[in-house]
Amino acid sequence: MDASKRKFINLCLGGAAALAVAGFAAVTYPVFRYYLVPRSDDNAKGKIDIPLKDIATGGAVFFEYNGSAAVLVKKNDGGLTALSAVCPHLGCIVQWEKGRQDFLCPCHAGYFTSDGEVISGPPPRALSRLPFVVKNGIVTIG
Ligand code: FES
Repeated sequence: MDASKRKFINLCLGGAAALAVAGFAAVTYPVFRYYLVPRSDDNAKGKIDIPLKDIATGGAVFFEYNGSAAVLVKKNDGGLTALSAVCPHLGCIVQWEKGRQDFLCPCHAGYFTSDGEVISGPPPRALSRLPFVVKNGIVTIG
């Protein structure tokens, strides 16, 4: 084999190796980033802001809080409640029943008041309350 053919084959092998490394990095970096690098948004710091205007009276807003489902309720009397939306029975996500002003867990028909207290069904305890403050029309949870 002459030198020019050898050089050409080496260039091809080098290019193929570089493409393989780049492809491996392109596939593994997002996985690494997702699982191993802490997120830097406010939610990861344990705080989340929800403008009061974004929640209707009698309505609820669901959001992610520290990697888990949570809900902010604005009751018909204007009172606010922030709760974990994870049912303490087996971990299903509760649903807000606007007409009844309570929560239903669809998995085993557990019912909770708008403050998270158990009304009926198998849940062994209330939905966990989340701390919040209201300032300048913003509800800050956490
Ligand atoms: S998981 Fe909610 S009632 Fe069973």
